[in-house]
Amino acid sequence: MFSTRVPDDRRPNDLARALAGARARGPIVDLTVSNPTRVGLDYPPDLLAGLSDPAALTYRPAPLGLRAAREAVAESYVRRGLSIDPDRIVLTSSTSEAYSILFKLLCEPGRSDVLTPVPSYPLFDHLTRLDGVGQRRYGLEYHGAWTVDFDEVDSVWTTGTRAVLAVSPNNPTGSVVQAGDADELARRCASRRAALILDEVFVDYPLSRPFDEPPAFASPDCLLCRLGGLSKSIGLPQVKLGWIALDGPDGLVAEALDRLELICDTYLSVATPVQLAARSLLERGAAVRDQILQRVRVNDAALRAIVTGGHGATVFPADGGWSAVVRVPATRPEEALVAELLERDAVAVHPGYFFDFPHEAFLVVSLLPEPDLFARGMHLVQDRIDAA
Ligand SMILES: Cc1ncc(COP(=O)(O)O)c(C=O)c1O
Repeated sequence: MFSTRVPDDRRPNDLARALAGARARGPIVDLTVSNPTRVGLDYPPDLLAGLSDPAALTYRPAPLGLRAAREAVAESYVRRGLSIDPDRIVLTSSTSEAYSILFKLLCEPGRSDVLTPVPSYPLFDHLTRLDGVGQRRYGLEYHGAWTVDFDEVDSVWTTGTRAVLAVSPNNPTGSVVQAGDADELARRCASRRAALILDEVFVDYPLSRPFDEPPAFASPDCLLCRLGGLSKSIGLPQVKLGWIALDGPDGLVAEALDRLELICDTYLSVATPVQLAARSLLERGAAVRDQILQRVRVNDAALRAIVTGGHGATVFPADGGWSAVVRVPATRPEEALVAELLERDAVAVHPGYFFDFPHEAFLVVSLLPEPDLFARGMHLVQDRIDAA
């Protein structure tokens, strides 16, 4: 009686079980943490004051979002030197919901597919499956920098492909889409009538120098859907506000907006209080964003000082984001190392396979933990590698 959109096997994976076991035994150093509200940042206590605006007592449904909120989101792109028309902004309750809305806009249930990068965000499995959309993967290859494997893009592309997903900076590699790759992706999407969905949730977190905007994304020939949201941009995942910023040929954008209006009108999922508070959240949330940026930079520097290549462990270069990839000797399975770190050192890290790295052995660590904790955890990781 139940849909196959929800998998039959829903048991927590081995790592989740081991993590729960380690937590039950005592405190752990959690280098998998992704929740910014639990890592000792100072949130201004009245940051959410805008949510109690009495104007929210009147309901004025607006399928694509209240004008003032769409304007505030459009203005947030000015920081990046991008001019986005507020009429081309669609509000959503999260970036995850934005994916679902775009799949409804673009895909035929059970017949269409989207191309997703690997390694990348593991939730794409559920996001596609829950919307009845096929997922075909294209590789990101590492040759001193991460680039798109276009032979693979072309080989997995089918007549049912309706969108290509790109994440920039990517989770977990921290790599941004380079100008040449942006050009090739946009060109293929334009000529094959597919949309390009560009997940930019980590765009506010450059680890060293500011990101360059690829020209092909600044004035795209295809339908380009940029995704963003408060979860990462101001570290407030619980406030539930995300958005889609559309760009591309005028006719395509107009048609997409018209259709999106029907989809969004059906659910009207974005709460009025958060829309009324959007401007103040985006402006005042800069205080949180600055702390997160400082945090990930400090931890990234510490990581590179601790893991310096001894016993074959190296940190991959990264452009931005909240995570880092450490290559470790493949002398034993990732799973064994991760389990040993948990059981013997009470340190939690993600194995590369969690993000579908094509081969072993990688660890993925979050750059969010408090710096002392992070450094302690990484020393224990390096010691464990040295001891092997
Ligand atoms: C690449 C990427 N996109 C989207 C999301 C989800 O964002 P939201 O909380 O807005 O759904 C995440 C969360 O970790 C992410 O890593």
